[in-house]
Amino acid sequence: MDPNASGLAQRLAEAGQSHLLQFWSKLSPEEQVELTSDLQQMDFQEINSFFEKAMEMSSSSKQEKMDARMEPVPREVLGSVTRDRESLKDWELEGLKCISQSKVAVLLLAGGQGTRLGVSYPKGMYDVGLPSHKTLFQIQAERILKLQQLAEQKHKVKCCIAWYIMTSGRTMDSTREYFSRHNYFGLDKNNIIFFQQGMLPAMDYNGKIIMENKAKLSMAPDGNGGLYRALGNQGILDDMERRGIGFIHVYCVDNILVKVADPSFIGFCVKKGADCGAKVVEKTNPTEAVGVVCKVDGLYQVVEYSEITLATAEKRSADGRLMFNAGNVANHFFSFSFLRDVVQKYEPKLQHHVAQKKIPYVNAEGQLIKPDKPNGIKMEKFVFDIFQFAKTFVVYEVLREDEFSPLKNADSQDAKDTPTTARHALMSLHHRWVLNAGGHFIDENGRHVPAIPSLKDGTDLPIKCEISPLVSYGGEGLEELVKGREFHPNLMIDENRVQELVKNGV
Ligand code: UD1
Repeated sequence: MDPNASGLAQRLAEAGQSHLLQFWSKLSPEEQVELTSDLQQMDFQEINSFFEKAMEMSSSSKQEKMDARMEPVPREVLGSVTRDRESLKDWELEGLKCISQSKVAVLLLAGGQGTRLGVSYPKGMYDVGLPSHKTLFQIQAERILKLQQLAEQKHKVKCCIAWYIMTSGRTMDSTREYFSRHNYFGLDKNNIIFFQQGMLPAMDYNGKIIMENKAKLSMAPDGNGGLYRALGNQGILDDMERRGIGFIHVYCVDNILVKVADPSFIGFCVKKGADCGAKVVEKTNPTEAVGVVCKVDGLYQVVEYSEITLATAEKRSADGRLMFNAGNVANHFFSFSFLRDVVQKYEPKLQHHVAQKKIPYVNAEGQLIKPDKPNGIKMEKFVFDIFQFAKTFVVYEVLREDEFSPLKNADSQDAKDTPTTARHALMSLHHRWVLNAGGHFIDENGRHVPAIPSLKDGTDLPIKCEISPLVSYGGEGLEELVKGREFHPNLMIDENRVQELVKNGV
């Protein structure tokens, strides 16, 4: 269809985006149809206004002023797995009760592109090389299954944890197909709900949309805060309401240790009457790539690692710890009513953040150019930008070694947050579970291996030990399998191999 006759050319001209049709006459009829369909779905005035506001927000003077307005999280909203040991059991029981009533849903943010890890498929399908070769998706699915069972056993009722999975245009088909191929890992497929977040075009610094080829705009997911718009326009909020969901645990795909629907975290938030909560670990290194939960102008917020100045990140309190040490592990709690208010009232108020990127583009001659320095921006909303609207906000502090080991980068020397670090973190945790349950590991000479093994060659490889989430969600229920037994350090406990484990016992 002729863009002049359809009014498309006029719309683009009014929005200052006419260059998107510059190769029109050179395109094949199929390309013309595709480009027209892409462009017709877009609201250019809205995109232009996102650009202007985002650029204004990210100007460096505003950033610096924000640093001066930051305050650490006050003690009274903090709960801690180490300092509040006496309350932990109560919180866990409360969480399990809510789960048994099928009031708890989990929501996985899995629309990212995994650029840093460098794989072409969704990150959740990544195998970090555990003995079982389970992927991140499978580990999470099995934790959900186990937790359902624990809640059912405790309360003698059938229950379900609905699992909402947010994907993007780039990850939707492969994610769905992967779950279907694996039979939803034993979960009821009616309780796994996939939905898709929006996309936004990349823009150059003058606000012109970038084209990745003559017939296609350069598009990227609109950030994990795209969640809120998608919850509304994909009917997900309605689905939650129909199911009677009261509490939602939102988390990121890449943390191998994630305690999906963690009953203690949920119970803590519920008992505190919170509408919104965040799980944190202590940030100890000023340059670690985690956001920090804090207050800005009296409102709760995460200041992202890409947006904090080094001077502020390095500030220390009198006790020598980082002043802004509430490291965001991207595990959030929302009450359903809060989430509904966010979707219906607050979402339009959220501003996009700006990420400066090297974005491949076609020049006026139609050649593809791969820039070697940033030439434009991507605009993203962030999932935690709604903390500011919470009436009762709480923060739950957990131990990094128990709960946080994200997969961000490919393996390479000195790289952080890699498949190797994720694999080691999981095996070390499971090693400690065995020790806590009264089991021991022995070396080839029959000697007990210390809890933190240091090998002769100086490397600190963990003991090979993997426990299926189908056997234990958080270290519980292992005594009858391991107490008083000794194992060689290649232990795998899963549903079918409990036999083998007993044989291994000495
Ligand atoms: C994120 C947090 C950061 C935290 C860190 C912990 C945000 C904005 N930042 O940073 O504060 O300290 O994790 O590991 O949450 N995603 C989408 N859609 C998108 C973009 C991302 O669903 O458009 C998902 C990803 O699939 C992933 C999660 O959001 O599950 C986090 O994305 P990622 O880009 O890895 O965040 P980080 O920069 O590491």
